[in-house]
Amino acid sequence: MKKFVIGLLALTYSLGNVARADEGMWLPFLIGRNYEDMKKNGLKLTQEQIYSINKSSLKDAVISFGGFCTGELISDKSLVLTNHHCGYDAIAAASTPEKNYLDNGFWAKNHGEEIPVPGLTATFMIRMEDVTATVLKELTPNMTAEQRAAKIKEVTDILVADATRATGTTYEAFVRDFFDGNEFYLFVKETYKDVRLVGTPPQSAGKFGGDTDNWMWPRHTADFSMFRIYAGADNKPAGFSESNTPLKPKHYLPISLKGVKENDYAMVMGFPGRTNRYLTSYGIEQAINLEQPKIVDIRAKKLEIMKKYMDKDVAVRLNYSSKYAQVANYWKYFIGQTAQLKANKVADKKRAIEAEFRKYTNGKAEYANVLEDIEAAFRATNDIIYIRTYQSEFVRQVDINALVFIYKAAVDAEMKGNAERAKQLKEVAAEQAKALFTERNMAIELETLEEVLKMYMRDVPKKQQMGITKSIGEDGLAAFMSRVKNNSIFVDEARYNAFMKNYDAKKMAQDPLFILIKNLDEAFQKAMSNPDVKSANEKLQRANRLFVKAVREMQPNKKFYPNANSTMRLTYGKVLPYTTNEGKKMDYLTDFDGVIAKEDPTNPEFFVDARMKEVWKNKDFGQYVDKKTGKLPVNFLTNNDITGGNSGSPCINAYGELIGTAFDGNWEAMSGDIAFEPQLQRTIVCDIRYVLWIVDKCYGADNLIKEMKLVK
Ligand code: ARG
Repeated sequence: MKKFVIGLLALTYSLGNVARADEGMWLPFLIGRNYEDMKKNGLKLTQEQIYSINKSSLKDAVISFGGFCTGELISDKSLVLTNHHCGYDAIAAASTPEKNYLDNGFWAKNHGEEIPVPGLTATFMIRMEDVTATVLKELTPNMTAEQRAAKIKEVTDILVADATRATGTTYEAFVRDFFDGNEFYLFVKETYKDVRLVGTPPQSAGKFGGDTDNWMWPRHTADFSMFRIYAGADNKPAGFSESNTPLKPKHYLPISLKGVKENDYAMVMGFPGRTNRYLTSYGIEQAINLEQPKIVDIRAKKLEIMKKYMDKDVAVRLNYSSKYAQVANYWKYFIGQTAQLKANKVADKKRAIEAEFRKYTNGKAEYANVLEDIEAAFRATNDIIYIRTYQSEFVRQVDINALVFIYKAAVDAEMKGNAERAKQLKEVAAEQAKALFTERNMAIELETLEEVLKMYMRDVPKKQQMGITKSIGEDGLAAFMSRVKNNSIFVDEARYNAFMKNYDAKKMAQDPLFILIKNLDEAFQKAMSNPDVKSANEKLQRANRLFVKAVREMQPNKKFYPNANSTMRLTYGKVLPYTTNEGKKMDYLTDFDGVIAKEDPTNPEFFVDARMKEVWKNKDFGQYVDKKTGKLPVNFLTNNDITGGNSGSPCINAYGELIGTAFDGNWEAMSGDIAFEPQLQRTIVCDIRYVLWIVDKCYGADNLIKEMKLVK
């Protein structure tokens, strides 16, 4: 078995100089390295049309949407197309039981009807640059982790200052490390702060299939919504103002009505968040056995409690819909990732690479102990996985806890005499408190607090627990919770307001919920700063850097791409079906017949909007029909390489025209963030013809259709 896998790897080596058109999240500014291959695969654009600093290019039509998704410009008035699940929070926030846009959809008939979304941003990439040489020449191999980090910060601070020195510039810059600290690139960006909601289908369409179909194919989801970017005078970023006007963009995407067929060239540009493609078999074991199952457990509990209350009350449902969807999305993600890491034998594949690594680095002093350090680091950190998971999934993620956490930081700052910082934090906290009391339901928050705390007390090793959780024990939990309910200022708005009139940090520090959060955080900090854990994490960082360096060196002809880190990437490939490990053939295109086949009037996940059904029944497909099948196209597949953060990314044809918006991946390849699976891994795209059919034929928003450039 082992021999076979290694043989296969050797084959990959010899093919190494042929980049594959599927795997790879490439940096647009380095796309010259792939350009010949892209042309071979069908691309008809010049390099300059994809990425240029001086002329407008594709990259200027792609934005980071709010920092968590991607969007694309589709008109000269900066109409933005993104996913429904990316706009979800904004749509839910704009909705009330009376004006229920989430359930019924919303279409602005003119600019005046577009709805401002406080806090939502649109970020453009102005330019990117490789600054590796500048950074590396300041680093030496025997620096400690801290010295190295400090030096990197010093050098990159200067680079950032240089890139944004011009007076009055609205540009910002940052440097990120790539290939686990082996390379460094500089990014200059510009962020617009007035973004407004323009249109959305009802969520029965935008989220069709719900959590049942999420991360699955075949799919039938109208996962899109539309926004618009507004600018101040001079077309520059400005906070919300009535006098702002739609941004005049450098570039926007024409829209293709030609449709897709198998093997058509397809590429996706966007902002993938995080992949872990260089993870070793040791890391996979820890993820499968400890971390992922625990994340799934905690999230399942949170979902169960939210759902119980959401089902009883529309207002509660609207307030929690977005939170629920976010928790559910990665609950299912981790279930799938654990299952598919096993099914696709990813740890075996990694062990084969590690065997090659051992052979290549044998006798090379630079790489001594790399895998041993990695293995030891994961062994040393197994013990703190649960407390770390509760910190991110519970202490920082449950809204009431997150609020107290900010106040804790404020009180800490105040005690340390840092009044300025304390003031800032208190302002943030006051905003959060307002949101908690108006948009959250205290019964949900407190039940979640109690139930997940119970899990914490069982899961986290007793020797790591501190303060309350340790002293009260599970039997004392009910009594503790009633103390919180009766006394804490964070559970009752009137009590909170009264306290804030005479704010007193020392008194706040006596609040039972404050003490709990303080204890939980102290226990976490202590576990993480345990000398064994600290040194393991430092060694891991260094070992990962050297591992990635060697893996690249040992395949000199292979083109490598770095892990996703929320910077702009491009992935290219084609429209393509797949066959499952069990031999089941999966077509690359779905149509509206499939929506009707899934319809279930008893299950909100599978409602079909009456208006859409009527237009479909009348066969009013217009120019959006699929010419080959005569049906209404809905979603299609490509072999592009995307991940979370890419949601809403444009899927673009060989001519630079929009063919759809990418919104998901398929179940069989849920291990894909750790190892790409060429035979299985697909991007799920909402066909632009389905988007336009809904906008135009179903809801008559022809004002929007008119501003687009349609190519027949
Ligand atoms: N899995 C998709 C992603 O992470 C989100 C899909 C949203 N739909 C849903 N039913 N929650 O990009």
